[in-house]
Amino acid sequence: MVSKKLEKAINEQINAEFWSAYLYLSMSAHFANEGLDGFANWFHVQFQEEQDHAIKFMNYLIAKGNKVELKPIEKVETSWESLLKAFEETLAHEKVVTGLIHDLVGLARSENDYSTENMLQWYVNEQVEEEETAQSMIDSLKLIGDNGFGIYTMDKELGQRTHEPVDTSATD
Ligand code: FEO
Repeated sequence: MVSKKLEKAINEQINAEFWSAYLYLSMSAHFANEGLDGFANWFHVQFQEEQDHAIKFMNYLIAKGNKVELKPIEKVETSWESLLKAFEETLAHEKVVTGLIHDLVGLARSENDYSTENMLQWYVNEQVEEEETAQSMIDSLKLIGDNGFGIYTMDKELGQRTHEPVDTSATD
């Protein structure tokens, strides 16, 4: 079992991961409304990944004999003034999530909970990738600027992204 304090903190992280899923699902709906189906697809895949992150944490708590507590998910924004603004918000949000994961590592370490610290390493690595991806989308959008053909091409490319399910088992 993990301590009650860690159980509470991981349950809060599960809520944060579902909130992230909700945020990206809302972005997906917004850009689908704007006719940018490729960007909508990209955010939809992001939504699926965030659900995997939450479920992986849930499976860990279950494997350790702890209790999963699903809390209400706070409301998210429903529109963004530009693609660039949405990706800047994505990057800012991922940086917050990275901080939350690092806080969890600190807590596990302070309790000498080696299995939780080990499990969290997957998320530490994942966050490096999450931030890098968001940054590269921002870089591309800045290069393209208001070039309509550039946005059209990027939209077509992002339409190809598919969800590669995360291994949500407790020990991988
Ligand atoms: Fe679950 Fe995008 O961090």
